[in-house]
Amino acid sequence: MVNNDQMDKLFDEARQIALKAYAPYSKFRVGAALLCEDGTVVTGVNVENRSFGMTICAERNAICAAAAKGFRRFLAIAISTPDSIEPVGPCGACRQVMGEFMSGDIPVRFSGNGPKQINTTVGELLPFDSLHELRK
Ligand code: THU
Repeated sequence: MVNNDQMDKLFDEARQIALKAYAPYSKFRVGAALLCEDGTVVTGVNVENRSFGMTICAERNAICAAAAKGFRRFLAIAISTPDSIEPVGPCGACRQVMGEFMSGDIPVRFSGNGPKQINTTVGELLPFDSLHELRK
């Protein structure tokens, strides 16, 4: 189980890495920090492209980077969107990719640059995902 202090630290990593986002088109930077099973934190940012549909979100970049390092199981993910006051949740594609590697009880925190913070789970973001059940 991940405690609140760990989530605070993870979110701080997401907040810092968001400043490295490549988002010249939307000007909407996103940072994601993934806590791996052994305590390693792997981060990602959104990387846009002039062919807009090729943009890759921060969450998927973090998950792909972690997968390439050999990680397959994660304890938590935090997402920071510093260009929004309100929290902005992960897109549908990212929820699907999160569901590939994280069971329904994995905590997800996301926040903008304002005081509101959403603490939820992969299962709440992607309900009725049978893979969660298969892995039990
Ligand atoms: N974006 C993410 O990185 N993660 C999300 O979950 C939502 C959207 C990025 C994609 C694009 O670069 C910018 O935010 C605006 O949609």
